[in-house]
Amino acid sequence: MNKSNEKSGKVGLFILIIVVVACAMACVLALLFNVAERKSEARNPYVRLVEVTEDDTDPAKWGKNWPKQYDSYKRTALATRTRFGGHGGSEALPEEKIERDPWLKRMFLGYAFSIDYRDRRGHAYMLSDQEITKRQTKAQWGSCMHCHASIMPVYRALGDGDALVGMNKTHAMPYAELNKMVHDMGHGHPVSCVDCHDPKTMHVRVTRPAFIVGMQRLAESDAPVPAIPSIAIWRKSSRSKPYDPNEDGTRNEMRSFVCGQCHVEYYCSKDFPLTFPWSNGLKMEDLEKEWDETKLSSGSRFFDYKHKESGAEILKAQHPEFELWSQGIHARSGVACADCHMPYMRDGASKVSDHWVRSPLLNVNRACQTCHHFPESELLARVDSIQGKNFDLLQRGGAALMALLDAVKEARDAGATAEQLKPALELQRKAQWRLDYIAAENSMGFHAPQEASRILAEAVDYARQGQVEALRLAK
Ligand code: HEC
Ligand code: HEC
Ligand code: HEC
Ligand code: HEC
Ligand code: HEC
Repeated sequence: MNKSNEKSGKVGLFILIIVVVACAMACVLALLFNVAERKSEARNPYVRLVEVTEDDTDPAKWGKNWPKQYDSYKRTALATRTRFGGHGGSEALPEEKIERDPWLKRMFLGYAFSIDYRDRRGHAYMLSDQEITKRQTKAQWGSCMHCHASIMPVYRALGDGDALVGMNKTHAMPYAELNKMVHDMGHGHPVSCVDCHDPKTMHVRVTRPAFIVGMQRLAESDAPVPAIPSIAIWRKSSRSKPYDPNEDGTRNEMRSFVCGQCHVEYYCSKDFPLTFPWSNGLKMEDLEKEWDETKLSSGSRFFDYKHKESGAEILKAQHPEFELWSQGIHARSGVACADCHMPYMRDGASKVSDHWVRSPLLNVNRACQTCHHFPESELLARVDSIQGKNFDLLQRGGAALMALLDAVKEARDAGATAEQLKPALELQRKAQWRLDYIAAENSMGFHAPQEASRILAEAVDYARQGQVEALRLAK
């Protein structure tokens, strides 16, 4: 090997080393960039293709920025079914609850629910199902729309920018009038992204005025609310400002509050604005106490309807999911609605919340097994056992209530006066409130198993006490 050859060999080697090093560096840099990109994706997944504002209620527009969430959101239009959840019946309309449990129909005599009362189904249908229910053959009022449409811009328009003022103008508006206004203004959508997300930051937030007012009144009471720790913190503060779920609620609480905007007991007719009855606390008795102490504009004690057969002044319970959940071990352990009903799905470096809100039993792997390391079959069996026991108690409650109504009829046939029947009818009011509380709640007891059984046991007891009272008069 001569000198020049040796020299060019060295140069060759040198170049090779440079190339290898350059390649390695390029690879490392590419990797670093990739990681950085993924990380920033995870931190700020909000590369926006379109701007969204408070007035954008059309979820399709938001879907351009957040296609994964939008895709799963759209799936709420799909039919689902479990033993007690989802909806049965034909694809056209869910099954009638009142056909499946005929005692429900007699229980609701004198009220629109005896005409048409079906299983719930996915969020995609909330507005159209409300528009076509035969309950609309009775006069319905504007408050109905609070939980069935993307209504916030309309509230703001009605209240000159103040949504609460706007909402308080809608309870005396006929349903059809407000419904038309919502559609005409372009907001005829079911619950939409803007209802749960701040369009600037995408933080989860609540918008519904009735929820915000309900939470303020709850915080101002001295009822223990261990499931919502931020209330105790606010109570110890200077209280210079009312409790505000968006300011005071923790991020974890917000994951339940968004659902509490609608999945709650409420009053919704023309007498006074939409009300969530939480000023004494979130337990079944706390709600009952508020209704018992409320007066109608006629001056009489509050009731939703007079029972057509017995004449009792009845309280109708509506889907108290938020309230029942708050009494259970999951809420007490900080497990939020979204943990079970909108569990995370992995997507590269980011986590995507499943916006296909539905029964967690269709999704045990992500909804339950993140916390419970039992086989799926075991978890399903536990839920089924809880629900089966509550269902049996509910049927017993239904039978006891029917026996009470039979006894009242017998007493009346035997000549008992309205005055004499009063104690029996008061017991009917109490029994029916409890029975309906669990019948209308949609988890068949799962959200707080022991509390649900306690409430049903009281329902059976009050119904039988009422029956005894009435039978005394039938002799
Ligand atoms: C620990 C898990 C868990 C938490 C937390 C939870 N749920 Fe549920 N929820 C369930 C289960 C299980 C069912 C029963 C589903 C079935 O029968 O198919 C259910 C049923 C329901 C249903 C009826 C579902 C259907 O398909 O018909 C609604 C509505 C609901 N929950 C709302 C809520 C709301 C609102 C919250 C929070 C306030 C909440 N849930 C908290 C587990 C949970
Ligand atoms: C704006 C009101 C509103 C909000 C907010 C809301 N829901 Fe609903 N939800 C409804 C209505 C109304 C229905 C019934 C729709 C129907 O039957 O047409 C429903 C139905 C459901 C169902 C039954 C689905 C099925 O397939 O049978 C579940 C489960 C549910 N909601 C859970 C939740 C959870 C969990 C949250 C919070 C993340 C939430 N909802 C937030 C109003 C709301
Ligand atoms: C506070 C919120 C809220 C208000 C106000 C409200 N709803 Fe609903 N509605 C819900 C939720 C949550 C569901 C799903 C859970 C269920 O079906 O129990 C639902 C379900 C329904 C359904 C489907 C199931 C069924 O019952 O047949 C209809 C129809 C309906 N609502 C009509 C109405 C009408 C009419 C009004 C006014 C009188 C009204 N809603 C007011 C929250 C609300
Ligand atoms: C009923 C309330 C509700 C509605 C409606 C809703 N979201 Fe969400 N969204 C949530 C909750 C709860 C989370 C979880 C937030 C958390 O864990 O802090 C979430 C999370 C998100 C996130 C953060 C990343 C993730 O997936 O966890 C994005 C982005 C998002 N939603 C987009 C949307 C879009 C787009 C729509 C409309 C198509 C929408 N959301 C409708 C409640 C809602
Ligand atoms: C974020 C965590 C978490 C998720 C998600 C979760 N759980 Fe739980 N679960 C708990 C905790 C905590 C308890 C309290 C007991 C304990 O500490 O083990 C509990 C208790 C229970 C119990 C006993 C209830 C009782 O009253 O004694 C059952 C049954 C149960 N979970 C089923 C489920 C099912 C079914 C799902 C899915 C739909 C689910 N859990 C989702 C954390 C979770």
